[in-house]
Amino acid sequence: MTAAPFDKSIASPAVLSADLEALAAEFGTPLFIYDEGAMRDRCREYVDAFGAENVAFAGKSFLCTAMVRLVMEEGLHLDCATGGEMHVALIAGFPAERIVLHGNNKSDEELNAALSAGVGRIVADSNDELDRLERLGAELGVVPRVLVRVTPGVEAHTHEFIETGTEESKFGFTVSSGVALAAAQRVVASTSLEFAGLHCHIGSQIWVLESYARAVEVVLDLVAAITATTGAVVEETVMGGGLGVRYLAEDPPTDIAAYALTLRDAITTGSQSRGLMAPRVMVEPGRSIVAAAGATLYRVGTIKEIPGVATYVSVDGGMSDNPRPALYGAGYEAYLPAQIDAERPLEVRVAGKHCEQGDLIVPDAYLPANVTVGDLLVTPVTGAYGYSMASNYNKVPRPAVVFISGGAPRVVVRRETNDDLTRLDQ
Ligand code: LLP
Repeated sequence: MTAAPFDKSIASPAVLSADLEALAAEFGTPLFIYDEGAMRDRCREYVDAFGAENVAFAGKSFLCTAMVRLVMEEGLHLDCATGGEMHVALIAGFPAERIVLHGNNKSDEELNAALSAGVGRIVADSNDELDRLERLGAELGVVPRVLVRVTPGVEAHTHEFIETGTEESKFGFTVSSGVALAAAQRVVASTSLEFAGLHCHIGSQIWVLESYARAVEVVLDLVAAITATTGAVVEETVMGGGLGVRYLAEDPPTDIAAYALTLRDAITTGSQSRGLMAPRVMVEPGRSIVAAAGATLYRVGTIKEIPGVATYVSVDGGMSDNPRPALYGAGYEAYLPAQIDAERPLEVRVAGKHCEQGDLIVPDAYLPANVTVGDLLVTPVTGAYGYSMASNYNKVPRPAVVFISGGAPRVVVRRETNDDLTRLDQ
């Protein structure tokens, strides 16, 4: 980060053109705002690159009824990580057959709900789950459509907490040990399960597209082994999500077309060289659809200069609306919308209001020198894994979520009130 003015190219158009003071006055702060058009544009880029049948939005990155409807209108599938996400999707009217259900530890209740609703794909993560799927499917008289999740042993060059494709991962069946092949053979042989194909997700916030090509190689070796040993054709390979997003001005741009090209090339070339019919490739993007469309509005409440140490600019939210800096050391930009073009010579720590020293939103922010209490401060590119990982830590009510479309704001999730904080107490 630098003292230069905020680089507007990282924020989305509707966020830049909105009257943020008016939004803050009307809806309060902290406030999540989303550029609805930007999310639709990213969905359409994915559809153009892969085809609507081959894109599932990863709901874990941001989910609420309005988002489910947006995904539905754009014609995508929906990746649900839990029964809770699936519930939100179904309640909002999302077609069950377009839902992909994930999870390394799905309960009987979650599986039953999925099978009863007629969920299109269940990504099986363990032999225990396959046992359960056979039993529950038989009880309900349905044949679950199963993707076998495999762990390819590929390092994705991202934060280790969000890297999921390595041998150590808790997810999926390991390819190198032969467990993945055995699981696929089991599903193919089972009369109570339908083998839909393979699933592989190597991690999140990935820039090195080559990582995907290497994962495809591992998956295609497995496809060849499955076909050679069972005669089954593997029709689908879901290559997960994970495409990196530009959080900071110095980050590279997100290139959905290049990502698609890399995946398709790897699948086509790799299938040819193995004498296989190229399987269909599906993806599950989350972050790259919603991150840049979102921004968080905060109000500066105190400014404290500790001579020779740091200047703290404290805002009215914090790790309860954005835990990513504390969890992953994730970096964000900060700017004052009232002075968006100003130089930012003052190095500050943008802190939240929580009772922890680690509650920093931007530990190394630059702001205009005249930042004052009462200013509106914005962190752009907070649309992914912010609201979805928000908590009530310190009994801080969660912010509202506002979608902006055609310049008009609408609340899609209302702000929590103090009454909500005791809603579940008995
Ligand atoms: N598919 C699967 C199976 C996944 O596990 C994930 C993310 C995705 C798709 C979507 O990945 P995306 O395109 O959003 O990168 N809370 C962390 C990210 C955790 C990602 C978990 N899985 C963060 O804030 O960085």
